Amino acid sequence: MSPNRAAVSFTRAAAHAGDRLLDEILAGLTAQPKFLYPKFFYDERGSILFDAICELPEYYLTRTETAILSERAPSFMRALGPGLRLIEPGSGSSAKTRILLDAMQTPASYVCVDISRSHLMAAAQALTARYPQVEILPVCADFTQPFEIPEGTTPAQSRLVFFPGSTIGNFDRDEAVALLAMMRDLAGMDGRLLVGADLRKSPRILEAAYNDAAGVTASFNLNLLARLNHEFGADFDLDAFVHRAPWVEEESRIEMHLVSTRRQTVHIGGTEIGFEDGESIWTESCHKYDRVQFSALAREAGLDVIDVWTDREERFSVQLLATI
Ligand code: TRP
Repeated sequence: MSPNRAAVSFTRAAAHAGDRLLDEILAGLTAQPKFLYPKFFYDERGSILFDAICELPEYYLTRTETAILSERAPSFMRALGPGLRLIEPGSGSSAKTRILLDAMQTPASYVCVDISRSHLMAAAQALTARYPQVEILPVCADFTQPFEIPEGTTPAQSRLVFFPGSTIGNFDRDEAVALLAMMRDLAGMDGRLLVGADLRKSPRILEAAYNDAAGVTASFNLNLLARLNHEFGADFDLDAFVHRAPWVEEESRIEMHLVSTRRQTVHIGGTEIGFEDGESIWTESCHKYDRVQFSALAREAGLDVIDVWTDREERFSVQLLATI
């Protein structure tokens, strides 16, 4: 069998070898309005800060999703039977995956795909120790670009693609559709997708989740500039930018920005980037869907919603999807 190829074409992604990352950064910083790709958040410090966000009192998403999975996933996973291949794009520390792995019937395999190599390898090592009966197959890749799934030695009878954390909401609608279609291909005709999606709710609750009192989300956002300084030789003054994360009703999303607190010039890769006082770099969007909107999104990707798991207050949803 040939390895699976997952391919998504992203409108904003520049694809050159070598200086590709710097090209992508410069493309964003010279665009109008300025933006940076969220994947640049996840250097080692960024991945650690991200895990800290998930523990924040205001950040209900992780806690709620974990509770839903703990309640619903064990019997669901058992029913899938042995020979399952679990695939997770953007696996990070694979914390929620343990809920699924705990209930998986063996033999089984788990393909974890993440952009942060150190984080990925540490997670894979811990999982190999904890689940010796599951074949753990780490892949260091940017899941928005084509990547290969290793065969491993455990034959797969069925596939489940796991995409928790409302990461789907971090993409624009077109990108989200392309990504869901890519995951549909990864799962194959009879495969399933389990996708975590935060639900639309009061702006007060949403804004609190992305503007925590301890300032961890602000540190996470600003770490992007620190990374550009030490990895790409930029000279951002971290004291001259602030974190902003407003709810934008018309777009049904939280927008994360780094706003310049004065007129200034920054240098990166031999390019001068000018900032007006109050000008922002748009770093992330967190789209929120209601059930109907989400199932329309899935449909565009050739997927049917076959079940929705939620908490009692309907804050968060875990959507079970299958090829139409
Ligand atoms: N996908 C999650 C969300 O939309 C987690 C996340 C991604 C996040 N990027 C973030 C949380 C930036 C805070 C800040 O909430």
